[in-house]
Amino acid sequence: MTPTRLLRTFATFVAAAVLPLCASAAEPVQVRLDVTQQPAGPRIEPAVYGHFTEHLGRVIYDGLWVGPESPVPNTRGWRNDVVSALRQLGVPVIRWPGGCFADDYDWRDGIGDPAKRPVRINKWWGGLENNRVGTHEFMDLAEMLGAEVYLAANMGSMPPRAMAEWLEYMTEGRKTTLTEERRRNGRDKPWTIKYTGIGNESWGCGGNMRPEYQSDLHNQYATFLRASTLRAASGEGGTSDHLVEVLMEHSGKHMDAFTLHYYTLPGDWTTKGEALGFNADAWAKVLKTAMGIETRIDVVSRIMDKHDKDKRIALYVDEWGTWYDTPAGASALWQQNSLRDAMVAALSFNAFHRHTERVKMANVAQMVNALQSPVLTEGPRMVLTPTYYAFDLYKPFRGATPLQAKLETPRFRTGDIELPAVEASVARAEDGSTQLALVNLDPQRPARVTTNLKGDARGRVLTAAAMDAHNTFDKPQTVVPTPYAARAGAQGLVLELPPKSIVVVSVGKP
Ligand code: AHR
Repeated sequence: MTPTRLLRTFATFVAAAVLPLCASAAEPVQVRLDVTQQPAGPRIEPAVYGHFTEHLGRVIYDGLWVGPESPVPNTRGWRNDVVSALRQLGVPVIRWPGGCFADDYDWRDGIGDPAKRPVRINKWWGGLENNRVGTHEFMDLAEMLGAEVYLAANMGSMPPRAMAEWLEYMTEGRKTTLTEERRRNGRDKPWTIKYTGIGNESWGCGGNMRPEYQSDLHNQYATFLRASTLRAASGEGGTSDHLVEVLMEHSGKHMDAFTLHYYTLPGDWTTKGEALGFNADAWAKVLKTAMGIETRIDVVSRIMDKHDKDKRIALYVDEWGTWYDTPAGASALWQQNSLRDAMVAALSFNAFHRHTERVKMANVAQMVNALQSPVLTEGPRMVLTPTYYAFDLYKPFRGATPLQAKLETPRFRTGDIELPAVEASVARAEDGSTQLALVNLDPQRPARVTTNLKGDARGRVLTAAAMDAHNTFDKPQTVVPTPYAARAGAQGLVLELPPKSIVVVSVGKP
């Protein structure tokens, strides 16, 4: 049993024993955290704080790109306000151009004179795609953000040669017919494409394939790639362990990563549920479902372990986030983003930190104006969401090494759902400081966390009065981090957590 699993098991045991239902709402629940200096796994790859952008709704057009002629201030077409907010946050990697869109995308539509680019039907998300943003424009954005690129390449509706030629066009330095075309289109120096996804959701929008068929196809496409790039096999997004088995067994040697998609819905795919105006049951349901990402990572990792004992193949959670009903009249997959979404982000980050031996990348769906977005725009205005601030709070964890810790927490019950009051992640940052993230899931009760840590703590807290508190263009500061500090007493550091809060602190920073 690993130390992290010990942590979770122990927390469950305490929960069963202590359910302080009679305590008053204002009285804090008592939580104990003991941290050792022993690493709990390899370092937290910064890429687990990655993003996903798809040609869908107002993600690319309007959200990120307004075009060089727009009155909205921009740099070569990319909005200055959004680029600046994302640069501030730090974007380690962006996945593009889909999602489902990727398997219906011909890269040649997006190069050359913009006025001559074809207009296509956006099969999956409605409307027309004029291809104004293509390879050169997207790579310009990635360079402005200093982000690595994760190309989602078409395995569903184009031959292997198309994927191979796109990569050659982008990454080859020698003089070939394709690289000369790239030069004529304005780019001399080859780009680096660190990651390439071979298809997307091949079990669904990527071609409705059987795993056995997908596996053969994956091997074929991977064989003909003309680039040095990490190859990610389109993976799992439901509950198909069989798919993981087949891909790992028959395609393992042709991949560097396997992917997992995990969406959190309060309801089901027919009635997903509301982004705002929800009750405590829906709060608890969403947090419980979000925590299920760890169960899925565990299951998929165990199957991967059978076929890849040395853990050469990474797991990329290349789509994760909340998914609610789209309000009438909104663009595709647009939804508001509340404190609850920030909690989902924090719980997901903590789960990724506990699985650093496999999880080397994760991409929130999606960067702007769709699903769990860190940024929303409307015309010339932009607002940063609680999810943006969760990413921001967790910045010190990038590159840090998770530490073994034992958490004893009571649990609380809402309707049928029982949850731990507090969830935690601890890591040693590169500067030697201990980074501690604590999430109080209980919307009613504060928590007091006593620890064996010796130093004082400084950092920030994200919380709000209402469970669905959110930022709007008119009130952009409703949910923003505020400074947080706690002092160590003779018995160790004690942290007071407000109800429904995320606290991230640095302890004993030199
Ligand atoms: O993120 C929206 C969609 O969700 C993606 O296009 C697809 O891969 C997934 O089903």
